[in-house]
Amino acid sequence: MSTETNDEKLHMHIDPTEKGWIRVSIVVLVIFFIAITVAGFMLGIQVPTEEQRVDPRSIAETAPWAPLSSDELEACLAEGTHCDPRVQELVPGEKYAVYIIAQMWLFAPNQVPTADSGFEIPAGAEVTFYVTSKDVQHGFKVQNTNVNFMAVPGEVSTLSTTFEDPGTYDFICTEYCGTGHAAMFGSITISG
Ligand code: CUA
Repeated sequence: MSTETNDEKLHMHIDPTEKGWIRVSIVVLVIFFIAITVAGFMLGIQVPTEEQRVDPRSIAETAPWAPLSSDELEACLAEGTHCDPRVQELVPGEKYAVYIIAQMWLFAPNQVPTADSGFEIPAGAEVTFYVTSKDVQHGFKVQNTNVNFMAVPGEVSTLSTTFEDPGTYDFICTEYCGTGHAAMFGSITISG
């Protein structure tokens, strides 16, 4: 009897069905690993990430979320045309960055590009949104794009999207944030 027990210990019996499922699990893990690698590095698919931490109490006065003061704006417009730090032309025609504050119950800015941006955003451009909240939790979704995330006080959420077609794309708040929730919207205009 004791010999049998020792043999059992030495040659641990695994049921063939269990063995089968162990193999399946390993294959699934490998497939997931490959899928994540391909999606992240080859297709450039991203999940919303926390870009940086900010102070919601002072965000409205913090560059680049703060618009220029009226004096600064006057001086800037006298010198040139690109006078809204919240909408940035990184590579003309190709890469743009937009900084938006969500608050009860509006987005600032709510029109992109703004009157003081001094440029249009053409079709085919990649736009990266940097959105944070200065009060409660809001949502930020740009219609007909992959941009859809939460805007949380103290954190900056970011996603990039390429606008292939000209037109006006609305963005809306997707988290219930109080009586003015339905009034929280804005738009980005892509020129032809
Ligand atoms: Cu902000 Cu709903």
